[in-house]
Amino acid sequence: MFKYFYKYLLVVYLYLASFFQDYQTQDTTPPSPFRRPLVWGDINFLHTTDTHGWYGGHQHQESYSGNWAQFISFAEHMKERARANNQDLLLIDSGDRHDGNGLSDLTSPNGALLLPIFVKQKYDILTIGNHEMYLWENFFQERYFVAEHFADHYISTNVEFEVDGEFEPIGQRYKYFETEVNHHRILAFGFLFNFTRNCNGSRVIPMRDVSELQWFLDVLESHLDKVDLIVINGHTPITPTWDEFYLVHQVIRKYYPNTKIQYFGGHSHIRDFRVFDGLLTGIQSGRFCETVGWLSINMNNTLKTPITDIFHRSYIDFNPLSFMFHSGIDSIDEFMTPNGNEVKALIHDVKKELNLGTLIGYVPENFYVDRVPQSHPQNLFKLLSDKVLPLLDYNSTVLERLIIINTGSVRYDLFKGAYTLDTHYIVSPFRNKWVKLTVPKHVAIRISHFLNSGRYINFKLLPLHHQYETLRQMRVEALHQVNGGFNEEVKEQLEVEKLTHGYVTNDDFGNSGDDTPHIPVGYHYVPNVVESRQFFNEFRGDELCDVIFYDFISSNIYWALNAMGYPVNQKVEFYSDVYLGLLLDEFARQEQSKRKH
Ligand SMILES: *[C@@H]1O[C@H](CO)[C@@H](O)[C@H](O)[C@H]1NC(C)=O
Ligand SMILES: *[C@@H]1O[C@H](CO)[C@@H](O)[C@H](O)[C@H]1NC(C)=O
Ligand SMILES: *[C@@H]1O[C@H](CO)[C@@H](O)[C@H](O)[C@H]1NC(C)=O
Ligand SMILES: *[C@@H]1O[C@H](CO)[C@@H](O)[C@H](O)[C@H]1NC(C)=O
Ligand SMILES: [Zn+2]
Ligand SMILES: [Zn+2]
Repeated sequence: MFKYFYKYLLVVYLYLASFFQDYQTQDTTPPSPFRRPLVWGDINFLHTTDTHGWYGGHQHQESYSGNWAQFISFAEHMKERARANNQDLLLIDSGDRHDGNGLSDLTSPNGALLLPIFVKQKYDILTIGNHEMYLWENFFQERYFVAEHFADHYISTNVEFEVDGEFEPIGQRYKYFETEVNHHRILAFGFLFNFTRNCNGSRVIPMRDVSELQWFLDVLESHLDKVDLIVINGHTPITPTWDEFYLVHQVIRKYYPNTKIQYFGGHSHIRDFRVFDGLLTGIQSGRFCETVGWLSINMNNTLKTPITDIFHRSYIDFNPLSFMFHSGIDSIDEFMTPNGNEVKALIHDVKKELNLGTLIGYVPENFYVDRVPQSHPQNLFKLLSDKVLPLLDYNSTVLERLIIINTGSVRYDLFKGAYTLDTHYIVSPFRNKWVKLTVPKHVAIRISHFLNSGRYINFKLLPLHHQYETLRQMRVEALHQVNGGFNEEVKEQLEVEKLTHGYVTNDDFGNSGDDTPHIPVGYHYVPNVVESRQFFNEFRGDELCDVIFYDFISSNIYWALNAMGYPVNQKVEFYSDVYLGLLLDEFARQEQSKRKH
């Protein structure tokens, strides 16, 4: 009872505090010195997913300041530790390695200079994400660079590559191997969700189809009694509403009723952990090199043991202090390995070659996607409405206008300070085209409301993680496993104000999975779309105006107009190709020149 009371007090406190806090400083304070140690098992995994090019680290967020060079050093120390303790440790990645920032997107094809950095990590198991499959150049690069480099560690059960009209697997369809130290026998598969926007020359066989294919059933059949652990590495959400993993699960369980199975998921950009049955859990390790997932398995325990004694999970904040803490090393010089230092030099060279730091302008303060409410002056969408969208070229001799943009057009927070070429790619690089429809103002002003109302469930307009974060919270609340508030240790830290803001993850095992306890960053409602009205004259509802939006949400706009009882027959007309990223550049340039004067 008291526990829950405490929780509500805390929520109220954090809510009120969110209005008064100076958001600018919170990310620059050093990360909390308080960390939860990992629980080691017989087999241990370090998991990454949806890294999207963040190998240079996050400049503005201490908690995610770690770079690929440090991650490589970390993995080496952890492997050593495992060996010393007679345990196994495997590295695993679940895809989506490019599209995300300048390091990835400034080359053509994108990822050309990024992937040579990625492959320096010695993954034991990895698979493909949808971002490796939109464009043929990327798919080609994946096949002939990444898959070739990792050879039989690259596992994809359901993605195929066309060669002379014939489809062949892009990597190994599966892998059967023994772990190095304890010779545990592992059968591993790799799955991409039922992605359909893949490029020509590629093919995705949906999981539900694979699970009926003879070769797949033969693999399951022929390894009976020869498997200690089944690993499914999927670029696939572990969310229950996404039932593809569950279909595979049902098939595998028929053959292996008493075998431990572990799913590694991805794509929806959240931290999550889910219990599928008494011997099967799934972990998802966030996005953008903010998280390294930790998963360990006690191989001795059986179905009779509570599942919490078989599997353990942690979400490690992607920064050198966390890495050093878990490696048991205090000094950064001692921590960096020769391989790590080599990669550090490589990252440095690539950044320089790409002129990633090229200054475009200045950002006067931090602007957030969801850390503050929509009406807060530091809300990024408010900034877009008030100051950025109005910069779209306006011809005052034509009609007044209203601009609508879907929130998924922004991929990350915008931080105070230098606005560089890299920032452009981080926040909104999508080269979309603006189009327009002409309707009476009283109609125009209701469109956004309609697209944001409960009647219109189209998650696709939202930033990706918002499509799933809510689902996880609802599931976990329903499980009654959320133990209210923080435990005693954490409360003490909170009192001495040692905690920083960051992820607080509730999952099927409770809320102590984050290696670093944090004060939760606000996770505020994000609507499907936001609008910017540029009406200058006295408002008259029956007067015509232009409604401007990205062409790819045209069908949503038509839907709304229809649903409002105002069906239109007009075709959209081209308006401008100065996409949001260019408007942000312009905003930053203006802020920079204000500073000079
Ligand atoms: C893909 O192939 C189909 C059939 O060959 C062709 O009609 C289509 O234009 C191709 N699409 C692209 C993007 O190349
Ligand atoms: C893909 O799978 C999901 C989850 O099972 C399902 O909701 C969706 O309709 C499927 N999409 C396609 C294109 O098959
Ligand atoms: C499992 O059993 C082996 C052999 O007895 C032992 O070395 C190992 O520590 C046990 N694993 C765990 C997690 O207790
Ligand atoms: C503004 O629109 C008018 C009417 O369509 C057109 O004649 C004029 O050239 C436009 N001006 C600019 C600067 O585009
Ligand atoms: Zn992704
Ligand atoms: Zn994805």
